[in-house]
Amino acid sequence: NAMLQWQRTGFHFQPQKNWMNDPNGPVYYKGWYHLFYQYNPEGAIWGDKIAWGHAVSRDLIHWRHLPLAMVPDQWYDTNGVWTGSATTLPDGRIVMLYTGSTNASVQVQCLAEPADPSDPLLTNWTKYAGNPVLYPPPGIGPKDFRDPTTAWLDPSDGAWRIVIGSKDDRGHAGIAVTYRTRDLVSFELLPGLLHRVEGTGMWECIDFYPVATRGRGAARGVDMADAMNENGAVADDVVHVMKASMDDDRHDYYALGRYDAAANAWTPLDGDGRDVGTGLRYDWGKFYASKTFYDPAKRRRVLWGWVGETDSERADVAKGWASLQGIPRTVLFDTKTRANLLQWPVDEVETLRTNSTHLGGVTLDTGSVFPLSLRRATQLDIEAEFRLDRRAVMALNDADVGYNCSTSGGAAARGALGPFGLLVLADRHLREQTAVYFYVAKGLDGSLATHFCQDESRSSSAGDVVKRVVGSDVPVLRGENLSLRVLVDHSIVESFAQGGRSTATSRVYPTEAIYANAGVYLFNNATAARVTANKLIVHEMDSSYNQDYYVAAAQ
Ligand code: FRU
Repeated sequence: NAMLQWQRTGFHFQPQKNWMNDPNGPVYYKGWYHLFYQYNPEGAIWGDKIAWGHAVSRDLIHWRHLPLAMVPDQWYDTNGVWTGSATTLPDGRIVMLYTGSTNASVQVQCLAEPADPSDPLLTNWTKYAGNPVLYPPPGIGPKDFRDPTTAWLDPSDGAWRIVIGSKDDRGHAGIAVTYRTRDLVSFELLPGLLHRVEGTGMWECIDFYPVATRGRGAARGVDMADAMNENGAVADDVVHVMKASMDDDRHDYYALGRYDAAANAWTPLDGDGRDVGTGLRYDWGKFYASKTFYDPAKRRRVLWGWVGETDSERADVAKGWASLQGIPRTVLFDTKTRANLLQWPVDEVETLRTNSTHLGGVTLDTGSVFPLSLRRATQLDIEAEFRLDRRAVMALNDADVGYNCSTSGGAAARGALGPFGLLVLADRHLREQTAVYFYVAKGLDGSLATHFCQDESRSSSAGDVVKRVVGSDVPVLRGENLSLRVLVDHSIVESFAQGGRSTATSRVYPTEAIYANAGVYLFNNATAARVTANKLIVHEMDSSYNQDYYVAAAQ
């Protein structure tokens, strides 16, 4: 359906057609980044023949599509080659552990390896003859056992560990179980649970990895093995992130904690009582089933996340495809707040920047909108910094206690100190617009609290679209401006507040604000404060794909 082709992106990863979900087995090998992904070759909706799509890149931005890496062709994965992770062996070879859905729809873990390790593109894959290598253990439901992590070597005994997510019906708890293996073929269940959180339901796609918390190391990624000493004790300048994708509410939650390998236990850091599923999310919008990998080439940890559609299944079938992957993000510990991660688009995305417009120093009166004059506004990378009129803080009134993005009236509901920010993918009458904004309010304890929200409610005049106001509060330290980075790419808006302390991703489906009709505006809907954008740089973005090719391919 050529009518819907404008929804395809210019620089986000997506297959040529059909359905995609989770990123799988991201890894760096012989000069190439590999991305595998859950893919339905038969259509634009999820199905019972999920295969592994595969693409390679030199820079995480320009992708070359390769043939399917694995398809459901064995009794143990005939109902789907599901999510899995890559492990780099000490000799440099790669193996994959993935979940197979068997002919009886039992979730089992399977092993696969490249047919030709000398092929840097890892085009062909061989499934291990002895698959499956792991069945659901006693006490775990046959359909509650999936998505193995990357394996790591525990220095204390030189054996591998992997983690798999599940649930315990008692207490409707999400659980993380650990296995030990010497050969990735026979596995021993470790006693106890790595972690468990009551009431959170099935944990999909667990990710478990270290981040450095101090010194120059904190600016780099950490590989699992480098986080421990020879006795298997975790370095004291490292904390471990545990992430679970909660099947119940379809969000990716994480927490920072201490890993005690010898005890097979991970415990959230003290403070705020924030656990996996009760506190932090990677992203407050549409972002799920994410997975990190350690990139040895640039010594960083990179996060991939699946960004699904929020329009109807019917619309997806009509356009012939569904889902994007978010721009890969580097992940670091926030050494300033010491309470969250920082997520930031990988540097390479900046190579797509072209015409850059600098507009710093614009002051916005209360209740005003300021149009930016740009040539094209469908593919953008926006950097903005705002400052509130200081005296305005005096104007905080009680009505602003306990603001909450998702239950607020969004960008149109005015308070003393918000909302203000950007309108993107907006038509000239502002009938369609996606608002990315800050709202400063009083916290429940009376102190100032800054909220970062993304309002989808006017993003499309189409009726079959889920539109919400998403977001969260975001830490702002003394002396900091309020900063935003917003990536706009036709049907996706990916926003990062305060250097990546909080992020929000939206899929949007404008009908008017497309092609040359799409614009960007600054807005200030606060009633008591003027706002200055002391920095505003709008970069137009080149495509990393040839759009014409996709239009032709889809017709
Ligand atoms: C997450 C998930 C995984 C599973 C895969 C199947 O989106 O449900 O748990 O392995 O997708 O496609």
